[in-house]
Amino acid sequence: MSLAEQLIRWRRELHQYPELSLQEVDTTARIRDWLQSGGISLLPYELKTGAVAEVGSGNKVIALRADIDALPIEEAASVPFRSLNAGVMHACGHDIHTSVILGAALLLKQREAQLAGRVRILFQPAEESFGGAKTLIRAGALEGVAAIFGMHNEPGLPLGEFATRGGAFYANVDRFVFKVTGKGAHAARPHEGKDAILLASQLVTLLQSVASREVNTLDSVVLSVTRIQGGNTWNVLPESVELEGTLRTHSSEVQQRVKARVSEIAAGFASAFGAQIDVFWYAGPTALVNDERWAAFASDVADKSGYRTHHADLHLGGEDFAVYLQHIPGAFVSIGSASEFGLHHPAFNPDERLIAPAAHYFADLAEQALKEL
Ligand code: NI
Repeated sequence: MSLAEQLIRWRRELHQYPELSLQEVDTTARIRDWLQSGGISLLPYELKTGAVAEVGSGNKVIALRADIDALPIEEAASVPFRSLNAGVMHACGHDIHTSVILGAALLLKQREAQLAGRVRILFQPAEESFGGAKTLIRAGALEGVAAIFGMHNEPGLPLGEFATRGGAFYANVDRFVFKVTGKGAHAARPHEGKDAILLASQLVTLLQSVASREVNTLDSVVLSVTRIQGGNTWNVLPESVELEGTLRTHSSEVQQRVKARVSEIAAGFASAFGAQIDVFWYAGPTALVNDERWAAFASDVADKSGYRTHHADLHLGGEDFAVYLQHIPGAFVSIGSASEFGLHHPAFNPDERLIAPAAHYFADLAEQALKEL
């Protein structure tokens, strides 16, 4: 069987048995087996899920990272290797990323004697729940590593295309919850209460004015209210309403400014109407910031490997790879997967022909990066 066939077979097996963040037990067992069957040694980290392997010898270390977890989505793609785990699906293509990096590991093992150092290969759990990178770092996965590389498949890019950028790439992700507390009343006697539904509705509109009128239009910012909850019948004004949503930015200055303004507006609005508005912020991943030099290097290697390379646009999603880049330099790249349906869609169906070329690309990238150190 050719390497390309082997990698597609592994990808399909991962696809049939997807597992949620921090539950990647069978996925981890498969990865360990496949690595060991290729003669690749695993590092003895104590991990509940996820695995770290290493190829080569010497002091210089370059790391490659794949994420391995799936999403709580019922698959709607009509592929012969549909998910057999009800309600769970590899709808972000982490099965693809895993098989790409498995392939790179096998290729690097074949070239082990000619490597100018070691390549550490990280199979990271819990990317979707944002926490897996920290777990691997705590286990020691970045010790001695000079630079790290990783990928995400990009459904909007055709097969054979590649994109990355130096500097900020993926966004700062914040989640917020607003609790608007008024005073409940009979629906026919609103003057005896404080209408939390009316206040919450106006607040949604006011929040949009922060994004559109208080941030330079050349800076990226997205503020979306995604949940409104309050009331349970037709003739009672409820006491309170909850709003939830997310803020996406690329600069921490813009992020802090929007958060401060949102809190000030909520407080002023609450006092004007005699209500109470509590604002809760939950920090997600911070912006993913590629090293300028390594991003250019990764793009250069892609170009020589036959990819059509592009300068990537800013991405408004979050990516846990950002955490590695807070510790060491490196680059995260996009590789075209030409799916009609996007990431996290139940019918997401990436073109798996991207796997073998990407495996060769990452093996070349690691080998050449070691020579650069
Ligand atoms: Ni993903």
